[in-house]
Amino acid sequence: MENNKRIGILTSGGDCSGLNAVIESVVRTASINGYEVYGFKYGYDGLYANDYVFLNDVNVSNISCIGGSIIGNSNKTNLFAYRSVDQEGNVHCLDVSDIAIENLKKDGISALIVVGGDGSMTSARDFMRKGINVVCVPKTVDNDVPYTDRSFGYSTAVFHIEKALSALRTTGESHNRVMVLEVMGRHAGWLALEGGIAGNADIILLPEIKYNLNHIVDFLKDRFDKGHKSSIICVSEGAEEEGGSVIGTIDKRYPDSVKLGGIGAVITKRIEEKLLPMTGQEVRNTNLGYIQRGGETNAIDRVLGFEYGSFAVEAVVKGQFGNMVSIRGDKLLLMPITDIVGDGPTGETSHGGSNVVKKDNILMQTARSLGIYLGE
Ligand code: F6P
Repeated sequence: MENNKRIGILTSGGDCSGLNAVIESVVRTASINGYEVYGFKYGYDGLYANDYVFLNDVNVSNISCIGGSIIGNSNKTNLFAYRSVDQEGNVHCLDVSDIAIENLKKDGISALIVVGGDGSMTSARDFMRKGINVVCVPKTVDNDVPYTDRSFGYSTAVFHIEKALSALRTTGESHNRVMVLEVMGRHAGWLALEGGIAGNADIILLPEIKYNLNHIVDFLKDRFDKGHKSSIICVSEGAEEEGGSVIGTIDKRYPDSVKLGGIGAVITKRIEEKLLPMTGQEVRNTNLGYIQRGGETNAIDRVLGFEYGSFAVEAVVKGQFGNMVSIRGDKLLLMPITDIVGDGPTGETSHGGSNVVKKDNILMQTARSLGIYLGE
């Protein structure tokens, strides 16, 4: 690539809190180092269409507190396997990455900062293989990117879950009900676990531990007999019953075609069928949904976004390409993108090595000590 002092940035995958903090930080640090920043709109779609906005100190001023991304997101686009679905429902994939590369050359962009999760980083790796200078910033509300302790967006989402659970507690107690809250997280249970502990859930169901419905009902009945007329269940969207499978739908327009969702409604119905005759308790379901990804970004995610953004620009300035910025303990580090998404075939989205909840994690230990039922 040419050695122009021009950085392209895109925010790819589902949005989350803290993206604007990364953008603000990238632009401010880049500007101090004499770089211009081009914000490609709607993730890789902007790269394909050469649709960008010029970002500067003025138009990113104080955006760090605002949720979402001012340059937009897309979680549908993989330019190495660009998907279209015909009327019969057949999926067709085309490699259109060279168009994006031509656009980057035309615009004189010397480095690309990709803010995204594993799917977006797989594309970043594939662009790197074609000679593009790439640095990645880990983005995921699910906190499932490996080789980094934290991702921005997660903390704000945990706050939303805590608030929702606290609200459900009071209405549940007024009606002697069992209240179910379904939360995001894909195949990692971090949001359910940390949000559930913070919001005083009595039962937390994670993708990492297959649950047994009878054991859940026994636990609820036992609580009722002890005098707890209401209970709270926080269930991760990726949780599965023993011998069952995940609940969701298939949408072939997305590289990750399995759309999780609906487990809360499923367990609500099945628990009520068993519990109501024994305790008289009704069970009600709430799916917290996209609220977890929106609203004002909290202080932790803003600072994390600032840290990641400025470190990514430092990597660009030093020519340390092909890496993802990462935080381990109190250190900012660079991890090779291939360590995160593997070295698999170009165009194939990799979800290898996700950071999932381990049984000996400190949050698991705390939940057990508090008497929270984890389905174990
Ligand atoms: O990966 C982030 C996430 O919010 C998941 O927790 C959730 O399953 C998914 O994205 C929802 O995706 P979409 O925005 O396509 O509905």
